Amino acid sequence: MTASREVHVVAYPRGELRGDDFAVVEVEVPEARDGEVLVRNEWTSIDAALRLRLRERAPAGYFAAFPLHAALDGIATTGVVVESRADGFAPGDWVAHAAGWREYAVVEAGREALGGVGTLRRIDVEAASPQAYLGVLGGSGLTAYAGLVHVAGLREGDVVWVSAAAGSVGLIVAQLAKLRGHRVVASAGSPDKIAYLRDELGLDAVFDYHGGPLPELLAEAAPEGIDVYFDNVGGDHLAAALAALRPWGRVAMCGAISEYGADAPVPGPDNLFLAVAKNLTLRGFRGSSYVDRRDEMESVLAPWLRDGKLAYPETVVAGLEHAPDALARLLRGDTFGKTVVRI
Ligand SMILES: NC(=O)c1ccc[n+]([C@@H]2O[C@H](COP(=O)([O-])OP(=O)(O)OC[C@H]3O[C@@H](n4cnc5c(N)ncnc54)[C@H](OP(=O)(O)O)[C@@H]3O)[C@@H](O)[C@H]2O)c1
Repeated sequence: MTASREVHVVAYPRGELRGDDFAVVEVEVPEARDGEVLVRNEWTSIDAALRLRLRERAPAGYFAAFPLHAALDGIATTGVVVESRADGFAPGDWVAHAAGWREYAVVEAGREALGGVGTLRRIDVEAASPQAYLGVLGGSGLTAYAGLVHVAGLREGDVVWVSAAAGSVGLIVAQLAKLRGHRVVASAGSPDKIAYLRDELGLDAVFDYHGGPLPELLAEAAPEGIDVYFDNVGGDHLAAALAALRPWGRVAMCGAISEYGADAPVPGPDNLFLAVAKNLTLRGFRGSSYVDRRDEMESVLAPWLRDGKLAYPETVVAGLEHAPDALARLLRGDTFGKTVVRI
């Protein structure tokens, strides 16, 4: 038995997350059995969509809600194998898996997690940092890459708008589109984030969505309109995109963070008919459904990362016990880049 600490949900939050919705619990981790490994977790992920699972029922068809008073399964995590009873894994190996927000985990090799994105696998920490496999070379990278290339079907000449562009997925989308030669419009929620997107990444037009009516801000940033909208926000952002999209434009519907904390259903955009009028395509997608594209994604993003062409800033929060607060910060826009916890 190994002593470990893990974060549990003790009450489903209403609106903003509060510290007393969570507890850090001491547990004994059982021995690994045949086909399992014991992992000392080092890094664990903070993702916007965790908010959708902090409720009695997660949206239909999505990852299940987190049960109360139990370890949180289905959160991307990296760590070091301490003991292995599974073929292909040895003590000292760095691995990625999905038994997150805890210090130690017994993980079954080959058992599908997070739609395949979180299934136990070895990672190469010589090629990239262990926490990169939670973000740019993990779910965020796959979601950004698959969403832009395979869902939106990025093609020559497209003008791209990406929202929540200073976050984990958004930063990759913005840079991928820029590196492929597109005009990129990006929005985010603070002057610091806007300065970074404009001055460090050299994006073509950037705006703070707090700066006035969204349709006007977008029209100013993209006077000719847009062809692709990579939607991380939903709500008013999606409505503004529908108005700005040119005929045959496409929306990669990645997320709707503006709605995640709502206690009641949120109405959809009131201008949806524009999808008909302009022959638009609106396609929802899950990065995990494109796990067969992970090698392709890595072959594109990893060299850029290594050569310094792809910037990937992180907000690092120290200490497992601060994971809930890190998620609360992410949801209110108080993190930058990929948010991770150093356990
Ligand atoms: N489909 C998939 O498989 C998949 C996979 C991963 C992520 N996602 C989605 O991708 C999006 C980004 O997720 P992430 O984990 O990478 O988080 P993130 O972008 O690192 O952080 C989310 C950011 O969203 C912004 N935001 C929060 N509330 C907002 C609002 N009301 N209006 C506009 N912006 C708001 C905040 O930044 P500001 O300061 O800019 O407001 C916040 O930092 C989420 O919608 C998530 O659900 C989807």
